Amino acid sequence: MNKIDVLLGLQWGDEGKGKVVDALTQHYNVVARFQGGANAGHSLEFNGIKHVLHLIPSGIFHPKTINIIGNGVVLDPAILVQEISELEQMGVDATKNLHISKKAHLILPTHRALDAALEQAKGDNKIGSTLKGIGPTYTDKTARNGLRVGDILRPDFDARYKQLRQKHLDTIAQLNGPVAPTQADEDAWMRAIDKLRSYTLIDSEYAIDQHLSDGQRVLAEGAQGSLLDIDFGSYPFVTSSNTVCAGACTGMGIAPGRIGEVYGIFKAYCTRVGAGPFPTELFDSTGEQLRTIGAEFGATTGRPRRCGWLDLVALRYAIMVNGVTQLIMTKADVLDTFASIKVATAYRVDGQLTNQIPYNTDARIEPVYQEFAGWQTDITSIRCESDLPQRLLDYVRFIEEQTGVPVRIISVGPDRNATIMRG
Ligand code: IMP
Repeated sequence: MNKIDVLLGLQWGDEGKGKVVDALTQHYNVVARFQGGANAGHSLEFNGIKHVLHLIPSGIFHPKTINIIGNGVVLDPAILVQEISELEQMGVDATKNLHISKKAHLILPTHRALDAALEQAKGDNKIGSTLKGIGPTYTDKTARNGLRVGDILRPDFDARYKQLRQKHLDTIAQLNGPVAPTQADEDAWMRAIDKLRSYTLIDSEYAIDQHLSDGQRVLAEGAQGSLLDIDFGSYPFVTSSNTVCAGACTGMGIAPGRIGEVYGIFKAYCTRVGAGPFPTELFDSTGEQLRTIGAEFGATTGRPRRCGWLDLVALRYAIMVNGVTQLIMTKADVLDTFASIKVATAYRVDGQLTNQIPYNTDARIEPVYQEFAGWQTDITSIRCESDLPQRLLDYVRFIEEQTGVPVRIISVGPDRNATIMRG
């Protein structure tokens, strides 16, 4: 029986997963999201147009691919409906091949308001949440208060909605929260619920099992990044779901033994949005250069991303917890103009050399760098490995040596075609 391949971000999100899934989709019949929600922003570019998907799996642009929103996802119907209508305007019928797990939890308008109230209450310790209601929805899920997609088919849905909404409003009032949702927001959400009733709602664990039994190829598309994982990220500066490979098992109903290839995506440098440790962050003009050339501004929030050099301590950690079998390096072209490129190979923590990420998020980490001469060549139109500059290949080989995992794909630009497959 076929296995599920999993594609994950190995850093703090924004590694270019959308583009890579889109490029790989031709080899898969099914693409599934298994965690997170509309806090994600997966950018895809083809025919000169950029598309950003927040909730819908990145296989949606391929007319024959089935796209599944798994049980581990938290789903805001208003955002889903909006995304579907934007796709419709581009001539893509997103509902045709979109299957949604009945067990996915619903994000209510009051979850969003609660997110803002809780974040505000944190004062100086803000996480930098995208404020899409992700955290409060997962909180309700684990507290066993949540509403699930399948509940919208039950006759008591309205009553249960009102009960949960009131609970949220009470908490927001206690927190002196910023704002309760507007009537317009709530009306739009209710209209979206009506639409959701007409979509294909499934028991995704059975559906995926059937797809695999039928010999179909399934790709699980991770969101955010491994270093934002609720357990293995720099807690509490993390998202609220398991973004690592194990999350694909719980977020889709897949047995661990049915995981096949684990593709790990990383950028040729690092970025992070929101608060939390970032050992290789650059506060100088080099960091600014990475941000400008790499267009490092959030696809979901528009916030400028923090930028820094590639961190191999963090990358090796992400490879370890995920069991990565193949690496994919993105945005190599962003480094095209740099005369020198640095990579952190170890940390010095309180004067001690280490290869491990310290437990304390406030530890003073000094990265130990290895420096490389930049290739200083425009690689954006290169489509074949043998045409890549030797210095870039040396950089890639160094990463392979340091991680023990082959780099199978190098992305050299945002377009679907700007993808170099290696042997
Ligand atoms: P939340 O998941 O919206 O609550 O945000 C928690 C943290 O994860 C914040 O630092 C966000 O900036 C970050 N985050 C959430 N989703 C993404 C993403 O898709 N890409 C990058 N960072 C993200």
